Amino acid sequence: MFEAVPFGLLAAGTVLFVPMGMAGWHLSRNKMLFFSCALFITLAVGVHLTPFFPSISNFLYKPSSISVSSLPTGTTSSSMIRDSCTFSLHSVVMYKSNYSECVDDAIDSNSDSGCKRMSWKWTQSGSVAECGFQKLKKPDVSVLLNGSWVIVAGDSQARLMVVSLLELVMGPEGMKKIRGDLFKRHSDYSTTVDEIGMKLDFMWAPYVRNLTNLMLEFKENKDYPDVILMGAGLWDMLHVNNATEYGISLSALKDLVLALLPVFRNTDSIDKGASESAWIRSRHLFWLGIPALISSMLNTVEKREKMNDVMCNAYDDEVSRTKLLRQSGGPLLKLDIRWLTELCGPQCTVDGMHYDGIVYDAAVQIMLNALLLESNQTR
Ligand SMILES: *[C@@H]1O[C@H](CO)[C@@H](O)[C@H](O)[C@H]1NC(C)=O
Ligand SMILES: *[C@@H]1O[C@H](CO)[C@@H](O)[C@H](O)[C@H]1NC(C)=O
Ligand SMILES: *[C@@H]1O[C@H](CO)[C@@H](O)[C@H](O)[C@H]1NC(C)=O
Ligand SMILES: *[C@@H]1O[C@H](CO)[C@@H](O)[C@H](O)[C@H]1NC(C)=O
Repeated sequence: MFEAVPFGLLAAGTVLFVPMGMAGWHLSRNKMLFFSCALFITLAVGVHLTPFFPSISNFLYKPSSISVSSLPTGTTSSSMIRDSCTFSLHSVVMYKSNYSECVDDAIDSNSDSGCKRMSWKWTQSGSVAECGFQKLKKPDVSVLLNGSWVIVAGDSQARLMVVSLLELVMGPEGMKKIRGDLFKRHSDYSTTVDEIGMKLDFMWAPYVRNLTNLMLEFKENKDYPDVILMGAGLWDMLHVNNATEYGISLSALKDLVLALLPVFRNTDSIDKGASESAWIRSRHLFWLGIPALISSMLNTVEKREKMNDVMCNAYDDEVSRTKLLRQSGGPLLKLDIRWLTELCGPQCTVDGMHYDGIVYDAAVQIMLNALLLESNQTR
């Protein structure tokens, strides 16, 4: 596998940089996202494709072929660090706010004291500290997402993610102005943050089938966003209440996402031109998990009956079983809202389902740090 990496670099270099170079505007549009994708391809080609073509790797390792020393060093080890950090992203703690340290990200314009009641931070244990996670502030986010097209699709949990993300990029005041539009019941919402040219679309997609349809639309229009954050489950649990069927929908979604990722297909299809290289850029795919549901606090009898712990676990199990997540070899990196909401606890929710901003703030920061990790590769 280690030998596969040099071959991957070579292959990725030729099949990727050429079409991407031709679509030159992508480069200036967002260097970070571009580079991280290039690196992903490198690894993916190396790790996934080469083992299936032993004859090619044999050919490459004839004495006359490229020497390993001519390749950049450290790629393999830094990708290992990247992976271990990716899976440490959720190592956070939450605690009651110490009001004397109420600054920046803890300010809540809706509360009396002006502070959010809870705070969070990454744990400082050795391996997590080494990853150097940081709560990104507006200027960092502006650079990271400059010129990007971000899609957030799902139910009300996804909408709360949009609130946290926009609050970070536009400030609490800017967010206040658009809150009304964003919270029109069951509707889509689009905005462009002019300062950084970030386009953000919220798509109301309460069922997994809606997400699948959305993927089909991207495919049809050959127009792919840079970052996709999606998740659905609560509506399904309430109105369908059948984990098996949820699993079937998830499998269909996963198959479609994989089919849209050219790197998982054979190498010929990578070379089809700009539209597909555009999709390669959006290796930034996130799954928004369902929150912890606190039965006794749910606001209808139907919810209390159908959305119980057993059902929640069954739904979570389907997400694992269908291997949708990167944690199980799939395409999407999970933002573990259930974990974060459990950390925050009943004090952070009034209806047992929708939690205080702090939870989604943390999830947004986890997502942004995941994006950073990918881009740090090439620094
Ligand atoms: C709150 O923070 C201040 C300054 O950081 C510290 O001196 C104080 O001990 C903290 N209080 C609690 C209850 O943690
Ligand atoms: C965003 O990118 C454009 C063009 O690359 C650049 O002119 C601008 O300064 C960038 N803005 C931020 C906030 O980084
Ligand atoms: C989502 O899917 C459901 C069930 O298939 C459908 O009834 C609904 O119209 C869809 N909503 C959107 C916004 O596409
Ligand atoms: C759940 O859906 C599956 C597949 O459609 C079906 O076979 C099963 O009977 C359903 N279970 C319940 C409890 O309705």
